[in-house]
Amino acid sequence: MSISVRRLSYGIGAEVLGVDLRRPLPGEDIATIRRAWVDNGILLLRDQNITPEQHIAFSARFGKLDDHSALFKYRHPQHPEIFIVSTKPNADGSPSDTRETGVNWHSDLSYTLRPAMGSLLYCREIPDVGGDTQFANMFLAYQTLSEGMKKMIEPLQAVHDYAWAIHDTEKGRDSAKAEAHKKVNPPVKQPMVRVHPETGRKALYVSEGITTHIAGMNHDESRAILSYLFEHSVRPENTYRHHWRPQDLILWDNRSVMHKALRDRVPGTHRHMHRTTVLGEPSGELYKA
Ligand code: SIN
Repeated sequence: MSISVRRLSYGIGAEVLGVDLRRPLPGEDIATIRRAWVDNGILLLRDQNITPEQHIAFSARFGKLDDHSALFKYRHPQHPEIFIVSTKPNADGSPSDTRETGVNWHSDLSYTLRPAMGSLLYCREIPDVGGDTQFANMFLAYQTLSEGMKKMIEPLQAVHDYAWAIHDTEKGRDSAKAEAHKKVNPPVKQPMVRVHPETGRKALYVSEGITTHIAGMNHDESRAILSYLFEHSVRPENTYRHHWRPQDLILWDNRSVMHKALRDRVPGTHRHMHRTTVLGEPSGELYKA
């Protein structure tokens, strides 16, 4: 069966049909998928009845995989390449630490000097209602800015700090946890406009969940500009919202896409996902306040 690609929405995304990931794909199919992935930002592959090994093998066709050492507690016990995002309680009954993972807009690993190229999220369990993920096209976000705004932000860098994202809806800000994370992941400066290494296209590269401020500006100036950019980049026409089905696999390109796990879970229902992360090109520098 040959591969075909159909768009998912105006703003972003496509579905790939004619692929069965239980068998290794020929190199030309991988090249077709990579092209469609870069062009559409996210790709949806439905009905993939795959094991963790097959998920890892497919992901590794796109580059070196992260072993998730920055967030080592949440790795799959047998497969460090798999990061588990789950709302299911731990074996001792305590709440899962990843039940709120990714609930604010972000691009994976933007808070490191080697941000992720791509992420491949596989749905193992999902309730009938809720557990959705939203995606935003950051090429489109950049393109639809005025020429004046583009010119102003293009030479600037913004600070990305994982500790900023440590927040729990019930407990509020967890500063002890944030400090511990800061030791492993100190804040970095990233370009506000990132040039996509495979296409040369420009994408806006700031996110509400991880970007704290613009380097070299005072707090009020920085907040005003960033608030505008955050709101602008997630306008509905720029986004796609996915309601998962079990065995869906979604690939997103972190160099041109932001995403957010919605807080739309019906109490008492659960969601269980496996994510692999393909490492990208080095970007940014350490931030010294
Ligand atoms: C993530 O941010 O990597 C997870 C997104 C999701 O669970 O929908």
